[in-house]
Amino acid sequence: MQHDAIAVIDFGGQYAHLIATKIRRAGVLAEIRQPEDPIQAFAGYRGIIISGSPSLASRDEDSEYTLEIYDLDVPILGFCFGHQEIAKRYGGEVTHGGRQWGSADLHLTGEHPLFKGLAPVERVWMSHYDSVVRLGPDFTELGYSLTAGRRRHRYAAIGSDTLRRYGFQFHPEVDDTLHGDRMISNFVFELCGCSPSWSMKEFLGEEVERVRARVGDGSVFLLASGGVDSTVAAAVLGRALGPERVHLLHIDNGLMRKGESARVVEAFRDLGLDRHLHFVDASGVFLEALAGVVEPEEKRRIIGQTFIDVFRSEAARLGIEEHLLGQGTIYPDTIETGGTERSDTIKTHHNRVEVIERMIAEGKVVEPLAELYKVEVRELGEELGLPHELLWRHPFPGPGLGVRLLCSNGVPDREGFEDIEPRAAEVARRYGLDALALPIRSVGVKADLRAYEHPVLLSGAAPGWSGLRDAVAALTAEVPGINRCVWNLGPGVPEAATVRAATVTRERLTVLREADHIVMEALRSHGLYDEVWQCPTVLVPVVLEGAGGEMVIVRPVHSRRAMTATPVELPGALRDELRTRILDLDGVGALALDVTSKPPGTIEWE
Ligand code: XMP
Repeated sequence: MQHDAIAVIDFGGQYAHLIATKIRRAGVLAEIRQPEDPIQAFAGYRGIIISGSPSLASRDEDSEYTLEIYDLDVPILGFCFGHQEIAKRYGGEVTHGGRQWGSADLHLTGEHPLFKGLAPVERVWMSHYDSVVRLGPDFTELGYSLTAGRRRHRYAAIGSDTLRRYGFQFHPEVDDTLHGDRMISNFVFELCGCSPSWSMKEFLGEEVERVRARVGDGSVFLLASGGVDSTVAAAVLGRALGPERVHLLHIDNGLMRKGESARVVEAFRDLGLDRHLHFVDASGVFLEALAGVVEPEEKRRIIGQTFIDVFRSEAARLGIEEHLLGQGTIYPDTIETGGTERSDTIKTHHNRVEVIERMIAEGKVVEPLAELYKVEVRELGEELGLPHELLWRHPFPGPGLGVRLLCSNGVPDREGFEDIEPRAAEVARRYGLDALALPIRSVGVKADLRAYEHPVLLSGAAPGWSGLRDAVAALTAEVPGINRCVWNLGPGVPEAATVRAATVTRERLTVLREADHIVMEALRSHGLYDEVWQCPTVLVPVVLEGAGGEMVIVRPVHSRRAMTATPVELPGALRDELRTRILDLDGVGALALDVTSKPPGTIEWE
């Protein structure tokens, strides 16, 4: 079936993806196009949206794109940079100045289909340095904006119904523009005349046909980690080809959650895809490769490399070159500017093995999810009848528990403590808390740069959750050399902390796996699993004075796309349950809750 579709020109990564997702939510196919794509690539769309950009329209940055789009007889709408470009192309003027950042009120100057169903004043979100200061002859001002109720900015929304060109200075694609979805769907339906036909049901039917056409009489080989993408990809392949023609390989690297590999195998059985389900327990190989290694980046490198080695030998044993290769690649990975999320590290690694590169070059690859965003993959999974818990599981990093098991050579790292300790103590005291800097480091991010710095343990009756958050904000801002704060859940208030030598061993992995399992169970039983976006549990080789074992840290966060995160407040009853059950584990001497945002912390500790 031919769908009505909108092209979104990607001048700035995330913005374009947000726009495309919102259009698809409205039931219309949206596809990302690059600014320099040949004009033929824009044929057949019912409308075009030009995204925002970090470039400055006033300085003609990024102005070398395919300008023939302006000759096309379809409506074009620009946001921020796109809005300024449209104003410029049709005789308007853009200057550097009039900067706005944050919320503003959009005051409409009259009625217009773009704002159908909306109020005369709408809350919108601005982020720009340049401004449109004069309009070309065919354009009118559709709205101006007021910030803080009084500063007036002209031309917040502009348009020409004769030319069918429109622009918004604000960003309707971000949620802070309260009715941005409606503005986008007004463009898509009212001005471009699209009909909604993009649904997962339709897509599934079409994709099944595409896979059949692509594979012919052959069969497909898929590496099945058990993550959402590979599971949904396997289910699509199964629906299209039947179990006889789908070969799956699952590798247990020994760094999985409790019972995870068994669950993965069971899930494929339930899907009826166990005719050619190959399972390798490679935990011994991974543990041997990681023996004695302490440095985080080295651990990651070894995990990635070992995965490739195991995969290569299994693939040879199973003769994968006889089949087409199935991959769970999703839309942001397939287009140029997206797909840089670190969650794809492992995938990228095994994608680069020569045998796979060769198969890609020979066109022997099937990617049933290549058109979809993550949330759509989940919806497709629902359409295929996959269980909710499987589809909406928290994200889990490729290197698994390997990056949640901190290691040490046994030498306390107290660099900078002469400054950190007194300053942290002073700031914490303002909030009625005790501070103890921990003699290890964890990864964080400050001003877009990796910061490998110390955590601070806060003890004391918390001054309420917001007081605790204020204390963390003050500490990480005022005390150089720290990037995270953890809140002590017990047993007592320690005077000192040291470290013990620790590497990746089966014993430590067992402790961490058990602690992680307790946390997951507790989140579920307290009804918080779906609300929390991700919750790493970390085992840290820090030993607090008077405690017999290592420290467990729990990090529940809210996040949308992992770029930023905020810590989640856990209710007292849940904290009590964690305290009782985790401190009872052999080898654990202390428990704390990570209460840091990202930035300056990252979600994972290394
Ligand atoms: P950070 O720690 O950078 O993590 O805030 C952001 C998101 O990425 C996940 N993550 C990884 N995923 N391989 C993966 O597949 C990795 O090496 C990796 N490192 C971090 C992390 O779990 C979070 O969701």
